[in-house]
Amino acid sequence: MAKLTEIGWDEFSALPLETKRGYLTRAEGDGMPYHTLFAQQFDRELLERLCALANRIRFINKSKEGALYLKTVLAHRRAMLYFSQPSSRTFLSHLAACQILGITTGSVRDAATSSEFKGETKEDSIRTFSSYFDMIIMRSPEQGLAEKMAWELSNSDRPVPILNAGSGKDQHPTQALLDIYTLMRSFETKGGIDGRTVVFCGDLLRGRTVRSLSYLLTNFRDVRQVFVAPPELHVPEDVVETLKGKGVDYALVGDLREAVKEADAVYMTRIQDEWDSSKGASARIDTSRFKFGAEELALLKPDGVILHPLPRRDEIATCCDHDPRAMYWRQMRNGMWIRAALIAATFGHERAIMDCGY
Ligand code: CP
Repeated sequence: MAKLTEIGWDEFSALPLETKRGYLTRAEGDGMPYHTLFAQQFDRELLERLCALANRIRFINKSKEGALYLKTVLAHRRAMLYFSQPSSRTFLSHLAACQILGITTGSVRDAATSSEFKGETKEDSIRTFSSYFDMIIMRSPEQGLAEKMAWELSNSDRPVPILNAGSGKDQHPTQALLDIYTLMRSFETKGGIDGRTVVFCGDLLRGRTVRSLSYLLTNFRDVRQVFVAPPELHVPEDVVETLKGKGVDYALVGDLREAVKEADAVYMTRIQDEWDSSKGASARIDTSRFKFGAEELALLKPDGVILHPLPRRDEIATCCDHDPRAMYWRQMRNGMWIRAALIAATFGHERAIMDCGY
């Protein structure tokens, strides 16, 4: 088994993501990730195991006895939530996931309140967190920081797992896990995800959730991916190259209504203007045709679903919120269960939870 201690940073960082995966799995050989950094670490078998574990945790947690059992599973562990970018869902669902498993948490949500303000490097900050905590869940505007920190910690005298909760415009692997979990549950009794058409709409250029989910969907058979965006915000070349390389049926289009007609799932995203290179750049793009409202809802198949990683602005009209096909609220809660599953599996508790008597 490949080990991060046996490869230098420069050599490791230059590897293709699929090759990096082997360096990031648990040493115990169960195939689960130790560090979770990007979507390319998950194949179909792993996705199905994690979704089954999330279902199991969800079920066990229904009874008081079950919930109290879950709280003992990782009661001896501590997790650090290090979020140097704003977050509601990812922060709180990881926090809630830790609470379900009995993990004690600490947090830094603004580097200005940590010793980074005094000039401490991010590397030293993470080494500091690893002195007190057994896992670091981190969100950063910096692409590649989580990966660098994973390598640093694995080569330190106190390695602890890193969980990437969003890295720049690049990846958001746990969001993609919850998106897959939501799709699996949505289509559970209707033949599953295979053969479906997933339509992505909005700011596909800078949406890290789109890159991660697009990759995870390649694990399923005959899933067509349709990307709908203004030309300035269309899906980046690396995502398209990945789909081409895997022989995935895909299309880049500009008409949301036409795309909705063939969609089994519509994945809306907001305009990510926090990444604008000049103030107001996004506001000058005509995004009016990339919003989902009553007219799009009328075109959606009866068993189609609407997803959104959230937060939303006006790209899904509130009149859609109570439609049974609107999955974005459930999607949010699903994030708590799948993150609890991932954390439990990272610490090697998959089998114990699956096989417990609750
Ligand atoms: N989907 C998502 O990452 O939401 P937050 O930014 O609120 O965490």
